[in-house]
Amino acid sequence: LDNGLARTPPMGWMAWERFRCNIDCVNDPDNCIGEKLFMQIADHMSTDGFKDVGYEYVAIDDCWMSHQRDSNGKLYGNTTRFPSGIKRLADYVHSKGLKLGIYEDYGKLTCAGYPGSLDHLEVDAQTFADWGVDYLKFDGCYSNPKVMDTGYPQMTKALNKTGIPIVFSCSWPDYQRASGMKPNYTLIGDNCNLWRNFNDIQDSWDSVTSIIDYYAKEHDTLAAAQGPGKWNDPDMVIIGDFGLSYDQSKSQMAMWSIFASPLMMSNDLRSVSDEAKEILLNKEIIAVNQDALGVMGRQVYKTGAMEVWTKPLVNKSFATVFLNRNTNGMPRSISMTLKDMGYNTGVDHYTLRDVYLHKSLGNYGINDQFTATVNPTGVVMVTASISTT
Ligand code: DGJ
Repeated sequence: LDNGLARTPPMGWMAWERFRCNIDCVNDPDNCIGEKLFMQIADHMSTDGFKDVGYEYVAIDDCWMSHQRDSNGKLYGNTTRFPSGIKRLADYVHSKGLKLGIYEDYGKLTCAGYPGSLDHLEVDAQTFADWGVDYLKFDGCYSNPKVMDTGYPQMTKALNKTGIPIVFSCSWPDYQRASGMKPNYTLIGDNCNLWRNFNDIQDSWDSVTSIIDYYAKEHDTLAAAQGPGKWNDPDMVIIGDFGLSYDQSKSQMAMWSIFASPLMMSNDLRSVSDEAKEILLNKEIIAVNQDALGVMGRQVYKTGAMEVWTKPLVNKSFATVFLNRNTNGMPRSISMTLKDMGYNTGVDHYTLRDVYLHKSLGNYGINDQFTATVNPTGVVMVTASISTT
């Protein structure tokens, strides 16, 4: 969507995968969907280094609303859990130098059964704009995927009409895919800044690899759809939660960066481990994710055990991820020429760098073999820039 926003993949935090629809503030006051949680997350984003490396949006997901609209037909937050109201929360988030994301649904109801935007697109867009919301995730439950090609663009127009810059995140293609339709990515890219393509991420390695496999299978379609202002969204980053090992966490960060995917963490920033934090704050990897070309990397090699993915970067540079799909056994080695890694810009010599070890690996000619030794379910990730020697 050409609205000047999301020229690189959006980065931030989103409540859903980690906190779900936990509305029990009586028994679980620290972890329920309410203003306190979002304020604490904003605090940690601004003080623990996340904001400094580019994480920007603090995004509310489902279950924030009151079950009814007010007498003017407007949405409002659940008054017990958001006693100060959403506008105050936006002000607080802004005071930390961050931006606020919110959630609604194109259909009759949200997935969790709160009022949807159907027949209220303009009033809801205006409400979000009045509150100072910076990002809208627009879900597709309780709606017909066949009408989304006309319905979602109506919300694009309604948001545009407010005159307030709001990143627009769509779930439209995922619902169409799930119902057997073929999404029109040209139309989607014209109307959304980012969009979900596939199933909700869950807190497991199986879930992460199912998404990677979907992106491999649909690569050509998805890569063509993506660029500055318009991003495929493989769903939230679950590093720092319960399901991924250290190596698997490194793998998600590496792959989401090779894809140039939005980096919306869903974890508890109040208690993430130092190991997880180090991965999430890795500036060299974030730079790959945020590269100005915005190209989605592609799989250049695959055996049962090993996948190699390469993403072109500005200045004829590249990033490559060696992903070991074995779930057991020993680390495995793979050797490949740079040419076979997909370095195809006519440059003869590259300097390679390991972006997890933060270490130069020296110079390689395009026909030289590079060898990576990769842990089970882990990665080796390198960048390559034109060699000056
Ligand atoms: C389905 C979406 O795909 C999830 O990310 C989340 O927003 C839930 N709906 C909320 O109900």
